[in-house]
Amino acid sequence: MTTSCSAGLFVTVEGIDGAGKTTQISKLKAALENQGRQVCVTREPGGDELGETVRHLLLSGTAVDRAELLLFLAARAQNTDRVIVPALQAGAIVLCDRYIDSSTAYQGYGRGLDPGHIEALNTFATDALMPDITILLDISPTTGLVRQSVHSAMEREGEQFLTRVRQGFHTIAQNSAGRIVVLDAAIPVNDLHAQMLQLVNQRLSAKSASGATVKRGVNI
Ligand code: TYD
Repeated sequence: MTTSCSAGLFVTVEGIDGAGKTTQISKLKAALENQGRQVCVTREPGGDELGETVRHLLLSGTAVDRAELLLFLAARAQNTDRVIVPALQAGAIVLCDRYIDSSTAYQGYGRGLDPGHIEALNTFATDALMPDITILLDISPTTGLVRQSVHSAMEREGEQFLTRVRQGFHTIAQNSAGRIVVLDAAIPVNDLHAQMLQLVNQRLSAKSASGATVKRGVNI
C-alpha cells in the first residue's frame, strides 16, 4: 500500500529520560498555536486508548526484551494510523514525544537487540511514515537522572543504560543527518525553546515552498 499525506508537518522529539522533551513540546505547541497553526501533540507509547493501555503495561516493567520491543511497536502502529496520519492529512503540525528512534536507541543500543532489525520493524509498524524533522535533545545521563520526577520501572534504568542509549541516539543521528538535528538540552529552557521554534519554522517554510507530501508505504 502507498499513500501520501498533504500539508502537515511531522516533528518528533527524542532524547534520554530527563532531557526535557515534555516541557519543550508544550512550549512549542503554545508558540506554534500563537502563530495560528493547528498543532497535534501525541506521545509514545500512547496516543489513543489502546496505546495508553500498552504504555501502562510497559511501564510496569515485566516484559522480556523482545516482548517490550513488540509492545512499543504495536503502540506505534496504532498511534501512526489513528492519530498522526489523520492529523497530518488535516494539515496539522504533529509533535510526537518519541517515535522510531527511541526503539532503536533503547531496545537496540540500550538492551542489545539488533538495531538494523529494529529499523526494519519500525518501517513495518509505521508503514514507512518518516518524520519531516527529528529534534534530539541531548543531555548527560547524570543531569537527566537528576531532572527526572517520575520514577516508573522503565525510568529507573540507571546511568550505564542511559549512557548506551545516549550513544545510540548519537549513532542514529550521524546516520540520519538530514532528518535529525541534535540540540544541547542543558542550556536554559527558553533558549532551547527558541532554537526548536526556529528549526520548526524553517522546516515549515521549506515544506510549503516545495509543496511536498508525507509519503508512506511498504511492500510486504
Ligand atoms: P516517556 O514517558 O516518554 O519517558 P520520559 O518522559 O521520561 O522521556 O517514555 C517512557 C519510557 O519508555 C522511557 O524510559 C523511554 C522508553 N521507550 C523505549 O524504551 N522504547 C520506545 O520505543 C519508546 C517510545 C519509549
